[in-house]
Amino acid sequence: MADACQVPRPTQMFPSLGAVFRQALTLLVLSGTVSTQKAPAYDPAPFNYIGTIDGMTLNTASGPLGGGTLTVNGFKITIPKNTLVTLPSITVAWPELFVNGQPNLPLLGSVSWEATVFGNVVAGQHIAGLVYITQEATQSLTGFITSINFTTGHFFVDNAVECVLNDPLGRYGHTYTTNPLWSVDPDNPSVRASTGFPICIPRNSTDPECPLTNRPVDTQGNYLSIFTYPDPARVVAGGLDPRIMAPLAVGDYIIFSGIKTSEGVLALYSLEANLGIRTAPGTKPAYITVESANYGIIDPNPNLETGETRAVALATDATTTVEWFAIDVDPCTGEESERQLVIAQGSGVAPVGKIVYRLGKVDASPATREVGFRYSSGTSPGPRGIVAGQFIQPIFDFIFPELITFGANEVPNQFDVIPFLALGSGPLELGNPLAAPLASPTIVGQLSPWPGNPVPAPTSCPPPSAVTSTTPTTTPSATPSSPPPAKDIITIVSASSRNQKGQTTTTVVASSNNPAAQLFMAITGVDNVAATAMTKQANGQFSLAISTKGKPSSVTVTSSLGGTPVTQAV
Ligand SMILES: *[C@@H]1O[C@H](CO)[C@@H](O)[C@H](O)[C@H]1NC(C)=O
Ligand SMILES: *[C@@H]1O[C@H](CO)[C@@H](O)[C@H](O)[C@H]1NC(C)=O
Repeated sequence: MADACQVPRPTQMFPSLGAVFRQALTLLVLSGTVSTQKAPAYDPAPFNYIGTIDGMTLNTASGPLGGGTLTVNGFKITIPKNTLVTLPSITVAWPELFVNGQPNLPLLGSVSWEATVFGNVVAGQHIAGLVYITQEATQSLTGFITSINFTTGHFFVDNAVECVLNDPLGRYGHTYTTNPLWSVDPDNPSVRASTGFPICIPRNSTDPECPLTNRPVDTQGNYLSIFTYPDPARVVAGGLDPRIMAPLAVGDYIIFSGIKTSEGVLALYSLEANLGIRTAPGTKPAYITVESANYGIIDPNPNLETGETRAVALATDATTTVEWFAIDVDPCTGEESERQLVIAQGSGVAPVGKIVYRLGKVDASPATREVGFRYSSGTSPGPRGIVAGQFIQPIFDFIFPELITFGANEVPNQFDVIPFLALGSGPLELGNPLAAPLASPTIVGQLSPWPGNPVPAPTSCPPPSAVTSTTPTTTPSATPSSPPPAKDIITIVSASSRNQKGQTTTTVVASSNNPAAQLFMAITGVDNVAATAMTKQANGQFSLAISTKGKPSSVTVTSSLGGTPVTQAV
């Protein structure tokens, strides 16, 4: 089914419906029963919900990895400590979904926020194992772009719906920082042509990082919707250049999903333009995008049938092979190692560039939280901090084995064979692209309480301080890969403070040597201000002005990539 289906990424938040359907069937059968005798219930038993969020709570005392509760269609579920929740483009710790103890879900109560939860009932308690949250999980919209405002980056579809890219780091156009949890994917081309080529919204009519000239026109001056970029070695000044994104234009047909916001604008986390943009065969940069990636969980129980591990990707270069790999994570250090699953090549006939990976009965265990796709020729730096040539994708669909002996006891979801749940996944990195890095390392450990019985043996890690000082070893991968991101070097370009009418405004401009970094600024003084995300400027520098009542003494700039913080007196 997955190969035939053209659904964009958000709709992958549907797991297979088998178990839910069977439960519905069971209810139907039971409702016809007149006997007062009851079937023996058993525990643990699985539960798989796709439903509306009625409420969420946070155990605020448990720190940055605390759990809480989630109520879905009336069922109250315990969210264990160490739960990481997968959102449309990022994965966050449970507390990241709250602000001042309240759920940070825009318009909660007036629009449908939905959760997909796989868990087990253990000693009568519903405990979650895997949690996915989004607004209107089935939302998928289409239409023609009828206007684009270059000043704001807002655009209209079919003259009816006002949209903005939810792009907190400004990768694909203007920054939009109001709802960073529901952002586009800032690291992989998530705003893209159907083929995976990254596209952008110009910040003005001569935006050098999104020039209108980066799309060819026909003899009437109309933009082409099918074209191939030249080899970068042959690019002429001002001509088509695959190292720069392609601009979105009025008239483009797009397929998109987003969240409704209190400002009335739809903030998009995914946008696919129906454009057949390719890169010259065998050249770099070439781009990849992923349509779906499902991981089959293996159980030898003969009452169960195992689902297939499979994926669908799209490549702008159909002549170069693309490796699909699982990303195993060390539970203590968080160090990642790649495990090759399949190498395949894009289709040479329509749909050109589509790659269907099927593992059949092959056991791809253990399941990983994320998988990656990379051209065998390796990666290259892409535009505005995007890595060209690879795509890292969270698994939206772990296929738990399906019961094939009807009437046999339902088998609990096998979270014990999923290492990132049973063992943990190393130091927590906050998913919110605008969150300041944690001051002290916190290790993501085993889910607690454990959604199953028995509880697997937990991992014993050295204290976190020892973990951060270990030197990372290189990834054991046979294929060329990009090196692990090095810590960056932060420079304060200027820092000054100015007093006016009892308010002091402190302005800092800073830069990082790594274009993928997000910088943060904190103030020490009469009023301390915690690390706050700075705004990236067109020239790559970051700036921010913060007003305080009291006089500041110094500013400190930190980076999401972990470079040494820089402090300067003001
Ligand atoms: C674009 O948005 C700006 C800011 O809201 C507004 O002033 C301007 O009129 C808009 N331009 C067009 C063509 O609508
Ligand atoms: C257009 O936008 C780019 C990127 O933000 C900026 O560098 C450039 O100065 C702008 N040009 C004009 C004419 O405003």
